Amino acid sequence: MGQDQNIPGELLSRLTRFGRVVLLDTVLSTNDHALSLKPGHEPAVVVARHQTRGRGRFRRPWYSDDESLTFSLLLSKETPGLPRAGMIAHVAGLALCNAIEKATGLKPLIRWPNDVMHRDQKLAGILCEGRGSAVAVGVGLNVNQTAFPDGVHDAGSLRTATGRDWDRFELLEGFLEEMLGLLAEAGKGETAGLLSALKERSAVLNRRVEVATLLRRHVGTVIDLDSEGRIVLRTDAGRLVVLGAGQVRRLR
Ligand code: BTN
Repeated sequence: MGQDQNIPGELLSRLTRFGRVVLLDTVLSTNDHALSLKPGHEPAVVVARHQTRGRGRFRRPWYSDDESLTFSLLLSKETPGLPRAGMIAHVAGLALCNAIEKATGLKPLIRWPNDVMHRDQKLAGILCEGRGSAVAVGVGLNVNQTAFPDGVHDAGSLRTATGRDWDRFELLEGFLEEMLGLLAEAGKGETAGLLSALKERSAVLNRRVEVATLLRRHVGTVIDLDSEGRIVLRTDAGRLVVLGAGQVRRLR
């Protein structure tokens, strides 16, 4: 087990108030591990020091190392009022931004759909995947890295953004507190506040962007985020396009 996985007992017991906690040294992917757990014990959190086959959106490999916080939160789809998977990923982006801001004072934004950004650097990625009655919210947060390997573009860490180290498990605790709080609000149907918070955290709203989808590339200005978490784009040709998935690049 890596040095930082030796989590102090007091912090571990604080984490267990959110649900079952599984601490692992090396795993293929925390999402796969979480989704293989016997159902009925959600929420559960699977944290790993090292992933050998971590993956990102569009099945891209996901880079992480001992300085990252790498985990999956497993939720039951049967939780009353649980938003659909796409929306859960947006909520996770918001929860992560809130937790980072509370801990560090940074004001990260969400590059739609759910990359957590500080300035033009990606601090964290989120991948939500469902299987059977469960959904895994996988989060990779760059915490104390001072540099990234060649080929990992536009990445930053809390350390590069603030000049100091941060405790990964305290950040995890902050995330779980925010996330489960926001999901409880959504479960009570209080979604208007959630949507306006998502809009405030958006790095793309009212910005000119290029969006690559599986089928084509759109260039235009994001004029809204709808209640399903889709972006409404006014293309340069004047058409309105509503997109539920894609890869966004901000244009100057
Ligand atoms: C992305 O930005 O493309 C999403 C990256 C998600 C990475 C996390 S790390 C924990 C969990 N396990 C995985 O294999 N992926 C997610």
